[in-house]
Amino acid sequence: MKIKLLILTMIFSFLFSLSLSANDISKVIVPTKHNKELTISDIAKIQPGLGVVMMEFGHRFYIVYYAAKAKNWKLAEYELNELIEAQEVVEITRPKYKDALKKFENDYLKRLLSTIKAQNWKNFITIYELTTKACNSCHIKTGHPYIQYKLPKTPPLFLDLRAGVEL
Ligand code: HEC
Repeated sequence: MKIKLLILTMIFSFLFSLSLSANDISKVIVPTKHNKELTISDIAKIQPGLGVVMMEFGHRFYIVYYAAKAKNWKLAEYELNELIEAQEVVEITRPKYKDALKKFENDYLKRLLSTIKAQNWKNFITIYELTTKACNSCHIKTGHPYIQYKLPKTPPLFLDLRAGVEL
């Protein structure tokens, strides 16, 4: 008897959720401590866009270089994996860039990752330079020729690049 009731309740709640249109759902309020009227639509609007993810790209791509140079391959791998994860966020929030970003990942980021895994500095710098060119040509293609990534001359000062490296 109880199981029948449970199944019926599940069917009804499923049908009810189907009857809610996307518009109704976007207006559902999910109150927080600071905003009692926050809606699902508000939450959708504040997802990170390309600009935010690109700032992360610049930051992590810079660290990847100096981590590899210091032979801290674990740190280089970590930073590059985080960069790829950030890219996956923007593929969802800005789907118009999805195909170009996936191609960039397959053609450059994955190759860079394999030079890190192989701990091959010589191949690393070759692919790093090619990747930098690909970053900047995408900026030109997408109408942002004034954004050109340039490797900073000094390693990051806030990270101990020797951390975790066996001496
Ligand atoms: C698929 C094309 C594409 C690729 C590949 C790409 N970018 Fe970008 N990038 C953009 C676009 C478009 C913007 C402008 C962001 C916006 O419109 O909000 C941008 C902006 C930036 C910015 C400026 C962020 C800011 O607001 O201060 C930096 C830094 C950046 N990219 C670095 C990189 C680096 C480093 C790489 C390579 C590892 C890279 N980008 C690869 C398209 C791309």
